[in-house]
Amino acid sequence: MDPLVVLVLCLSCLLILSAWRQRSGRGKLPPGPTPLPIIGNILQIDVKDISKSLSNFSKVYGPVFTVYFGMNPTVVLHGYEAVKEALIDMGEEFSGRGSHPVIDRISKGHGIIFSNGKRWKETRRFSLMTLRNLGMGKRTIEDRVQEEARCLVEELRKTNASPCDPTFFLCCATCNVICSIMFQNRFDYKDQNFLNLMEKISENNKYLSSPWMQICNNFPFLINYVPGLMNKFFKNTAYVKNYILERVKEHQESLDIHNPRDFVDCFLIKMEQEKHKQHLEFTFENVVITALDLFEAGTETTSTTLRYGLLLLLKHPEVTAKVQEEIERVVGRHRSPCMQDRSHMPYTDAVVHEIQRYIDLVPTNAPHAVTCDIKFRNYFIPKGTTVLTSLTSVLHDDKEFPNPELFDPGHFLDESGNFKKSDYFMPFSAGKRICVGEGLARMELFLFLTTILQNCTLKSLVDPKDLNITSIFNGLMYVPLSYQLCFIPV
Ligand code: HEM
Ligand SMILES: *[C@@H]1O[C@H](CO)[C@@H](O)[C@H](O)[C@H]1NC(C)=O
Ligand SMILES: *[C@@H]1O[C@H](CO)[C@@H](O)[C@H](O)[C@H]1NC(C)=O
Ligand SMILES: *[C@@H]1O[C@H](CO)[C@@H](O)[C@H](O)[C@H]1NC(C)=O
Repeated sequence: MDPLVVLVLCLSCLLILSAWRQRSGRGKLPPGPTPLPIIGNILQIDVKDISKSLSNFSKVYGPVFTVYFGMNPTVVLHGYEAVKEALIDMGEEFSGRGSHPVIDRISKGHGIIFSNGKRWKETRRFSLMTLRNLGMGKRTIEDRVQEEARCLVEELRKTNASPCDPTFFLCCATCNVICSIMFQNRFDYKDQNFLNLMEKISENNKYLSSPWMQICNNFPFLINYVPGLMNKFFKNTAYVKNYILERVKEHQESLDIHNPRDFVDCFLIKMEQEKHKQHLEFTFENVVITALDLFEAGTETTSTTLRYGLLLLLKHPEVTAKVQEEIERVVGRHRSPCMQDRSHMPYTDAVVHEIQRYIDLVPTNAPHAVTCDIKFRNYFIPKGTTVLTSLTSVLHDDKEFPNPELFDPGHFLDESGNFKKSDYFMPFSAGKRICVGEGLARMELFLFLTTILQNCTLKSLVDPKDLNITSIFNGLMYVPLSYQLCFIPV
């Protein structure tokens, strides 16, 4: 048969199938804009600002609605009430992870971010417990972050107060923290192995956020038609996996089961303890993907928050001055800041919270999926349906945070200047899938920022009034425009 005829036949089948699927589901799913066959609502969504488009839809359809990215219905939850009802009150039902056809080819159900069911639960529980136990060990996680903060400041000093883009230094610092936790040691910022590792991770983040990747995820049959991109992505991943596997083997040879040095040691011990079990969750394949997940999830998120944070501090010198005054008063000049200081530094604590609230790093959260057929506010959501929760709608709620589009540490302070908590502070999401690295990330943000400000004055190259603090959506996160600054040693 003529290939064109085949193509036309196939397309018509798809068209009919998708129209049928959409119609049969519609009475039950939440309302939403009318989808076109095959492409769904894609034309009505601004891919450069998905979160804004979803906010626009919510004005018409309310806090719970359905949009079609391609042929797949996605239920969107907008606003604190709906997000909390799902992620917290119905935590178990909403704890599934939406599928990611490209990454699923790599992780094959292992690790934490893209796993589901029993394996997800066990790997996640183990990882949280291990991070907590390492936090109390001989060389605590706080020690590791403090060490890195000192090295970071050393590197910043080496710039000799000349203009620089801080991206590289901040990526090294956050990547090193994960290295130190996973494999025991940090690296020099010039170490070639380390630079290769960072390069592959950051390249992959670029591929992951590319429009092609989004398209392939919604139309998985296309994966084989963009071989260039996919091959680079799979090649980079293979490199990182291989690197991790080598380090795991090294650890195996030098393992002392009574003295775990790091995350990998703890994983190997767990593997040994569970090896008689029938359904093995703790395998080599799983330790490698879990490590890969922690690198992918823990490096760029934290470094982007720091980079954006420094930009906001440049833009608001009066805020920076107050933080530095608090550091001077509580920490002084003769020791490094530590986590105990935070409870005595309400202003700085509020600034770090406000940075995370304002930048709204992951605006639509990572996609969830419902683990079974459920009823939600009188709608029916079938098992496996993808669910997006708008974190923007929570972090920029204008009742909880008046003037949400303004950067104002007062959002987290009461009248007498004490730190004021908010249930709406959800940059790490909430419920059963909440970021595994929340504690670690908050420790890094506090220690890195205070150690930098203890030792350096930030100087902008242009009048702060002219700094552009708008963000761009890179497909995964809101990132700041690139900028330069000078670190002047104090
Ligand atoms: C400022 C820094 C960070 C932000 C804003 C952030 C934010 C998030 C968000 C929004 C999610 C999705 C939660 C959900 O699906 O409901 C997530 C998941 C995750 N994060 Fe983070 N994260 C940060 C740093 C880190 C770090 C340092 C680590 C490393 C330990 C990490 C490890 C993870 C993991 C493993 C998951 C998957 C959890 C699961 O699926 O069960 N994150 N993070
Ligand atoms: C949202 O709605 C506003 C006002 O109707 C419109 O100007 C804007 O372009 C829309 N934004 C997106 C991303 O759809
Ligand atoms: C930071 O400043 C303090 C006080 O001036 C100093 O003791 C410390 O060595 C500095 N840290 C680094 C990493 O330069
Ligand atoms: C800031 O940058 C954005 C994106 O490049 C641009 O659209 C906007 O006009 C700029 N704003 C100012 C005030 O320069």
